[in-house]
Amino acid sequence: MRIVLFTGKGGVGKTTVASATALRIAASGAKTLVMSTDPAHSLADAFDVELGPESLEVAPCLWAEQIDPQRQLEDSWQDIQKHAMEVLNWAGLNEVESEELALIPGLDEVFSLADVKRHHDEGTYDVVVVDCAPTGETLRLLSLPDVISWYMERIFPVERRVMGVIRPVAKKVTSLPLPGEEVYGAVRRFYDRLDGVRRILTDGAVTSVRLVVNPEKMVIAEAKRTFTYLNLFGYRVDALVANRLLPEEITDPYFERWKKLQTEHLATIHDAFAPVPILTARLRDTELIGTDLLADVGREVYGELGAADVLYEDDPMTVRRRGDGYVLVLRLPFATHDDLELSTKIDELFVKVGPYRRTIMLPRVLASKSITSAKLAGDRIEMVFDPRDAAERSDQR
Ligand SMILES: Nc1ncnc2c1ncn2[C@@H]1O[C@H](COP(=O)(O)OP(=O)(O)OP(=O)(O)O)[C@@H](O)[C@H]1O
Ligand SMILES: [Mg+2]
Repeated sequence: MRIVLFTGKGGVGKTTVASATALRIAASGAKTLVMSTDPAHSLADAFDVELGPESLEVAPCLWAEQIDPQRQLEDSWQDIQKHAMEVLNWAGLNEVESEELALIPGLDEVFSLADVKRHHDEGTYDVVVVDCAPTGETLRLLSLPDVISWYMERIFPVERRVMGVIRPVAKKVTSLPLPGEEVYGAVRRFYDRLDGVRRILTDGAVTSVRLVVNPEKMVIAEAKRTFTYLNLFGYRVDALVANRLLPEEITDPYFERWKKLQTEHLATIHDAFAPVPILTARLRDTELIGTDLLADVGREVYGELGAADVLYEDDPMTVRRRGDGYVLVLRLPFATHDDLELSTKIDELFVKVGPYRRTIMLPRVLASKSITSAKLAGDRIEMVFDPRDAAERSDQR
C-alpha cells in the first residue's frame, strides 16, 4: 500500500491538491481513499458532499472520509500527559525537554494517525491520500509518535520494572512520581493505537510527503522550515507542488508584476528544493469544487507521472565508515549553525532544530561513542564519531 501525505502553509491548496491527486490515482484504477486529519471539514467542501468517519464513494475507485471532531477523547489522556511530564522531569530532563510532551496535539489528530495505520493494516485500499492540517499542527502531529515511542522505550519499561520491585516501599525510597495502574493501562492502550504508525510514515517505500506551496515569499520560507523538520523526523518528501501559478495566457498589464514576482519565486523554489521534483498547478479562474475540476488539476499536476509513485528517493540518515571511526550523515536542509544543537547519551542522539527536538536511536556501532566533530555540509550535517567507546575513553584519562 502507498500513503501520500500533503502538507503546507494554511490556504495554499493542500485540500485541493490532495483531492486532485486522489482522483488522478483512482483514475488509474487503484482503489483509493482520501482522508483528512484536519477537523475543518474541507474535503467535503472540495467534493461538495457530506462526509463523515465512514468512507463514502465520491468517484469511481475513490472513497473519502473525514474524522469526526466530536469523537470521544480518551479521558485518561490528560493523566498520562501529566504523569509523563513528572517522570521526565524526575528523570533529569529539563523543563523544555519535558514540555515536548506538552506539544502533543489534540486526540483528534492522533486518532486520524491511528486511522492511517488501521487502513494500512486492513489493506482495503491500494493508496491512501492524506490531507493534513496546516504546517504547524502537522509537524506536531508528525513528531508525536516519535516522542511517544521514546517515552515508551526509555522510560516506561524502566519505570515499570522499578515499580514492580519497589512499589511497596517506593514512597519511602524514591521521589519517582508514582503512577497508578490506570496510567499504565491508559499509556499502553494509547501506545498500542500508535504502535507502528511512525514506522509506516517514515518508510519511504510506503509513505511520501508532498509539500504544497504558492510562489510567495512567506510561503516558501515556511516550506523550507517544514522541509527541515520533516527531514529531522525522518519523513520522505518526494515532491513539491507549486500551486496558483499565473497562466502564460494572462497578459493583462495589471498582473505583469505578479507574473514577474512569481517567476522569481519559482526560480527560488527550484534552487532551494532541487533535486526534489517541483510539480505545478496554475491559478484557475474559479474555485476548485467538484470532481471534474479537481480531476483536471490532477492531470495538470502529474502529466505522465504516476501520482502514487515514489517521485524522489533519498535516505535522510546514513552511517558510513571513515578511517577507524564512523560518520553519521543526517539530511537537514536549511538548518543553520544557529538553530542546531546536537548531543549524545549512550545510544541516543539528540538533535534540536529550532523548536523541534528529536531523539534518534543510534545504530549499535555508534552506541556509547561520542561525537568528535560535526559540520554542516550543504543540506547535510555530518557527525564524526569517536571510534572508542566511553569506557575506553575513560581508561585513557
Ligand atoms: N490553483 C487554484 N486555482 C484556483 N483556486 C484554487 C487553486 N488552488 C486552490 N484554490 C482554491 O483556494 C481555496 C483554498 O484551497 P484549499 O482549501 O485547497 O487550501 P488548503 O491549503 O487546504 O487550506 P487550509 O489550510 O485552510 O486547509 C479553495 O477555495 C480552492 O478551491
Ligand atoms: Mg485544507
